[in-house]
Amino acid sequence: MAKEKILIIDFGSQYNQLIARKVREFNVFCEIVPSTIDIRSIDKDETKGIILSGGPASVCAKGSPTCNSRILSLGIPVIGICYGMQLMTKILGGEVARSRSREYGRAALTVTNHKHLFKNIPRESVTWMSHGDKVKRMPKGFKRIAFSKNTPIAAFADFNKKLYGVQFHPEVAHTKFGKVILKNFLKDICRAKSEWSMRSFAKDTVSEIRKAAGNKRVILGLSGGVDSSVAAVLINKAIGRRLVCIFVDNGLLRKAEARRVREIFLKTFKINLKCVDASKEFLNALSGVTDPEQKRKIIGKTFIRVFDREAKRIGSVDFLAQGTLYPDLIESRSAFGGPSATIKTHHNVGGLPKKMNLKLIEPLKYLFKDEVRKVGKELGIPEEVLGRHPFPGPGLAVRIIGEVTKERCDILREVDDRFISTIRKEGLYDKIWQAFAVLLPIKSVGVMGDERTYENVVALRAVTSVDGMTADWAKIPHEILGKISNRIINEVKGVNRVAYDISSKPPATIEWE
Ligand code: XMP
Repeated sequence: MAKEKILIIDFGSQYNQLIARKVREFNVFCEIVPSTIDIRSIDKDETKGIILSGGPASVCAKGSPTCNSRILSLGIPVIGICYGMQLMTKILGGEVARSRSREYGRAALTVTNHKHLFKNIPRESVTWMSHGDKVKRMPKGFKRIAFSKNTPIAAFADFNKKLYGVQFHPEVAHTKFGKVILKNFLKDICRAKSEWSMRSFAKDTVSEIRKAAGNKRVILGLSGGVDSSVAAVLINKAIGRRLVCIFVDNGLLRKAEARRVREIFLKTFKINLKCVDASKEFLNALSGVTDPEQKRKIIGKTFIRVFDREAKRIGSVDFLAQGTLYPDLIESRSAFGGPSATIKTHHNVGGLPKKMNLKLIEPLKYLFKDEVRKVGKELGIPEEVLGRHPFPGPGLAVRIIGEVTKERCDILREVDDRFISTIRKEGLYDKIWQAFAVLLPIKSVGVMGDERTYENVVALRAVTSVDGMTADWAKIPHEILGKISNRIINEVKGVNRVAYDISSKPPATIEWE
């Protein structure tokens, strides 16, 4: 792991992950930590700067989140953003005023001091504001360095102590010079070196895994998706055959998936890979089940059973590796909680470590998805793996509405194959976030030649999105949709009608179940 880092103290802002990504764009490593962080865990040599994030609370409200006030006197440069600026004011003895109206949206900023934080920033520029409270009186030793029409103290600084505050959000794209401001903080004020790169990450992580695993065995459930693939290749590089990957064919995979995984990981990367065909076990367990949540639970449980059994066959194992990513880590421990209602329980292997009594290795747990892809590229993993659309753990089971049978999986596999291969051929695959077909539990009347048919209906779903949280239906040109429909109806036996899903998320979800 890189030695130098920036700490982002989390007060619940929706923009926190964005701040982290912006910092990393300057090749500076950063971590998002809870506001309750123990000050003794902050390494003064490694920590080059601290960012106090924004947040939805008001510092004037009782019980609003705070942090150890000594964070501001460690001698480490600090910048408070929005809530962070107000908290800094309150802790250091200034005054924050509650305003009746929220200021939300673009605001013109006038810079009055161009030293350090606002170096190379024009006197007038556009920023993004989202706040109710504002700083009324600055703490002692602070100078105003910018104002806006509604916010007389829009940014302040104690130049000696290297403490800064901005009322606007520099991490948001609407703040025209936000990147320059962040860069000034990181490079000019914190003097952080730009040493964090995916190449250095891969190199350091390989040696860390070697040290951690010693000469013990590690197992990993390889799904063929981006995260587990990158984790597998990385760990394989560190400990070779002491990593055993288990690929479970649950019978709910896409066409030729098992073969593809074998080809890439067994042949190209020479990974110690065990492929287990457990499709009958999964399909038997799913027999007669139509409820989506029930399907997910059965698949999750069956996976754990199969994986545990296979792991026991390997002999003594000490570690379980998982491709957990940074957003999962942050969300799982966020003091401000994730989405309140469970829309869909996502099948994951969360039950595994507890059940198997293994220590965890999670080499990607500090990375965002785009960084994982970059590491994968460094490791020579083909684009075909790195650029793949997400595929849900329960696979085709949540794309077959109603009962899941082998016959229905086979039909859907063929339909999906025609859909995906056509959008690949037409150059659309990389423009779409996720595309797949859904098999509906109804039949429709058709005509083929002179014959009446009574066959299955499929729906095609393709969406554009950034993170899967919201999505829009993809505007695939009509001629291409026509080609796809023709191919499916002509080539896949048992299907006589194709529909295209034009709902966005929300209110629909991406998957149908
Ligand atoms: P929804 O349908 O919730 O999907 O809009 C958002 C993203 O999550 C994927 N998804 C799942 N992934 N297990 C997974 O591993 C699941 O049970 C599951 N359900 C949905 C979905 O494919 C999309 O990328």
